[in-house]
Amino acid sequence: MLNPDWKPDASSPLPVYKQIEQYIREKVLHGEWPPGTRLPSHRALSALFGVNRSTVAAALNLLSASGLLEGNRGGGTVVRSGPLEPSTSAVKAPIWMNAADEGIHYPNLPVIQTINRMEAASGVIRLGTGELSPELLPHGSYNQLLAELSRCRRRLSYPEPQGCPQLREAIARHAAADGIRASAASVLVVSGSLQALHLISVGLLPRGAAILTEKPSYLYSIHAFQSAGMKLIGLPMDKEGLQTEKLADAAAAYSASLLYTNPTFHNPTGRTMSMERRMQLLEQARASGLSIIEDGAYNELWIDHEPPPALKSLDSEGRVLYTGTLSKSFSPGLRIGWVIGPEPVIGRLADIKMQMDYGSSMLSQETAALWLSSGRHEAHLVHIRSRLRERRDHLLELLHRFFLDIAEWDKPSGGFYIWIKLTVTVPLRALFEAALAEGILLNPGDLYDRNDRQHLRLSYAYASAAEMNGAVPALSAIVRRLAKTERQES
Ligand SMILES: Cc1ncc(COP(=O)(O)O)c(C=O)c1O
Repeated sequence: MLNPDWKPDASSPLPVYKQIEQYIREKVLHGEWPPGTRLPSHRALSALFGVNRSTVAAALNLLSASGLLEGNRGGGTVVRSGPLEPSTSAVKAPIWMNAADEGIHYPNLPVIQTINRMEAASGVIRLGTGELSPELLPHGSYNQLLAELSRCRRRLSYPEPQGCPQLREAIARHAAADGIRASAASVLVVSGSLQALHLISVGLLPRGAAILTEKPSYLYSIHAFQSAGMKLIGLPMDKEGLQTEKLADAAAAYSASLLYTNPTFHNPTGRTMSMERRMQLLEQARASGLSIIEDGAYNELWIDHEPPPALKSLDSEGRVLYTGTLSKSFSPGLRIGWVIGPEPVIGRLADIKMQMDYGSSMLSQETAALWLSSGRHEAHLVHIRSRLRERRDHLLELLHRFFLDIAEWDKPSGGFYIWIKLTVTVPLRALFEAALAEGILLNPGDLYDRNDRQHLRLSYAYASAAEMNGAVPALSAIVRRLAKTERQES
């Protein structure tokens, strides 16, 4: 998927279509866009370059006339794979041109690719984003940490397999505040908790394994387990979280030996598993021989009251592997997360991590160690909890004003998300595109459950109050418009 980060210069004496023609020509002639590369549609190119479609067409026509581009069977445009000069013999395209079809890892879903691209664009209101707004991130403290670090000699060598000891100790102390008793020896530092899921998928389970999880689930929006040849089995949720009654039957029916759960401020529903349900879950898991991955990405982001204790804190037999992260509170860009679990398992995952990246960035680890051990983290949490509470209440109020007759939702007591269920029929893809055309970026429910047709994951963590004030009424109008068209067509 091409993602040109260039725009023509409207003040240049060279006409815009010629600038585009030159830009693409250079990409092709320097091998950045090798033969067979599929170009985005005219519509997508005109949006990317900020020009109208006829300008794109003029540039592409010139390139086709000179033999650099050609049409493909699907009606798109590709970089020509045949010889440019009649005298040159045909060459085989580089093998990675088929990477998306032949590589082991699945590509992201197209909507996620668009989200990832548009999150970097300016002027877009990110109404579903899973990260804190930059105004909530501790930029001042971060600079202070770096200044403090720069005062003494830093380690420039490769990190230890499980991660820097000071950080692992700080993580163990941090986890103790959550009731999780772990020593530094049972902590593995990872480059974001997403990496933990990848390590688990390639290190602990056989191909073909079935993994039970909530449906909807964050796991459906990434392909960590599916790319490792595993199957996700979604289990229903209610207001208390994952429903445990069907757990034993599902484990037996699919010979599943692992359950992934995100029990606290669940992504995407925002729900929190009750204490009673947690106890049932552990009991059922024990009875069915299930091991558990507990994803605690949002645990500390409570807004109204502390959530029930982590499953890991109730586990005395090493049944639970716990993943945590600094991404949702301190800095997603730092890429620091962790896994806590039985020492032999942590050792196995550390060994795989060493083969993958020789450890997480030492600068990130040292920064994270200082952040956690200096007490700044707790003070920052107090601050962001109250900001998140204001933002959540603001979004709830706007939903009440503009969505009351067309959607339903629950009030989350922490985390980032409100999972709204549209009570009118609207195709989610059309909604995503119509909202994007008006500069609103959404996370549709089918990213978290392929069969979902009616939910949106809204986030109060990123967009400002002013942005929400503009986006929520606009979104309501788009939903009503599409619902009307849908009614008329059915
Ligand atoms: C539930 C959950 N787990 C894990 C992650 C991955 O976070 P990171 O890799 O930044 O730690 C996310 C990010 O959105 C998430 O929502």
